[in-house]
Amino acid sequence: MDTFYIKGGNTLNGSVFIPSAKNALLPILAGSIMCDGKVYIKNCSKFSDVKYMIKILEELGAKTNYEQNDLVIDSSKAKKFYVPEEYTKKVRSSIFMLGPLITRFGFAKVAYPGGCNIGTRPIDLHIKGLKALNVKIEEKHGYIYCDARNITAGEVHLDFPSVGATENIIMASVLTKGITRIYNAAKEPEIEDLQNFINAMGGKVKGAGTSTIEIEGVKKLHDVYYAPMSDRIISGTYLIACAATGGKIELTNAISEHNTALISKLKQSGCKVSVKSDKIILEASHKLKSIPKIETLPYPGFPTDLQSQMLTLQTISKGTSVIIENLFETRFKIYTELTKMGANIIIKDRMALIHGVKNLFGASVTAPDLRSGAGLVIAGLCADGYTIINDIYHIDRGYLKIEEDLQKLGAEIKRE
Ligand code: UD1
Repeated sequence: MDTFYIKGGNTLNGSVFIPSAKNALLPILAGSIMCDGKVYIKNCSKFSDVKYMIKILEELGAKTNYEQNDLVIDSSKAKKFYVPEEYTKKVRSSIFMLGPLITRFGFAKVAYPGGCNIGTRPIDLHIKGLKALNVKIEEKHGYIYCDARNITAGEVHLDFPSVGATENIIMASVLTKGITRIYNAAKEPEIEDLQNFINAMGGKVKGAGTSTIEIEGVKKLHDVYYAPMSDRIISGTYLIACAATGGKIELTNAISEHNTALISKLKQSGCKVSVKSDKIILEASHKLKSIPKIETLPYPGFPTDLQSQMLTLQTISKGTSVIIENLFETRFKIYTELTKMGANIIIKDRMALIHGVKNLFGASVTAPDLRSGAGLVIAGLCADGYTIINDIYHIDRGYLKIEEDLQKLGAEIKRE
């Protein structure tokens, strides 16, 4: 298993390109099965989660191939609506297959999903939403069986604005006659991207980005060439990394509007941040101030996917910070690893109290999950001495060769 070796202490300087977003690509890949023609995805980043989703599409009978960086998916011959456990345990987003399979075939059999170990991550809202559209669902022997022969457009009210449930219900409705409305929908930018993708294939979805989404069923979707949005979590991770090490970086192909919650906190802590069209420039020249309170919330609140990285930054900032994690129950696993590096953190339930220390020091640590892994990379970049990070396969789920980007920016990091 690969490991990162990092020699801390270098500032980050230079420019880095932000690739297409994992969390946009995963539902888009699942949604490609709704089209019985060809889907071209421009610059389809090869995250390991993306590679697993491509394997699922192939298992269902789709043909896929990369033409340079663009992925071509031809689902015209896809016939299967059964996703076995050996695929779903690798990638939690396999749950996104429910909606597209239902709308295309009228049936779906999908094993319960695996994925990042950050909490219980139930799927009750997906199931409740689909049942509200008259889909018959049975959960037995570790599988979800859907019979959607009598699916009817209707109204779904989500008890919580779940990103995945919103995306699944949108996709289940794309080829369903009539108008479906989702109330209390999630507003994440990736949902708007999914809407744009579906509409580019001839679907009729509107309202994504607001809490009410309307889907008018169409008979068929057509071929499409689509360029997904750039990854706001990778952007955020690199901004926080530069804030932690000091230096000046420029992100290109970045969408600053998707990171307003983070940018306002980074400015509050003393960083200079400016935006020029698709560029975000961050400069950090001195020790930063702690942010007294950070609370993760659904978009446009502070993203849970940047919580571990921001927690790492607080460990070396001047003052005391409280972080409240509202989305996932066990998302403070980075705490034990950062403590090995000299951080001063107290965890109580979903709250972390962080007293900034002068320096972290290098240690051998293990990435507990994807975003904690990214947090540990940041810790290693600014720690005194050498840091070894084990289990970096978690990081590869959502970052594209993070070490190459960081080397370009001046970090001493290598994969072995
Ligand atoms: C998506 C993102 C993930 C991000 C999360 C929150 C993708 C591929 N993943 O995950 O990176 O951290 O949004 O921004 O886009 N919940 C239920 N029942 C359900 C579904 C969700 O109780 O049926 C709860 C979850 O346990 C969690 C909260 O709702 O507490 C938010 O989950 P959700 O928005 O669904 O996250 P995901 O779509 O899984």
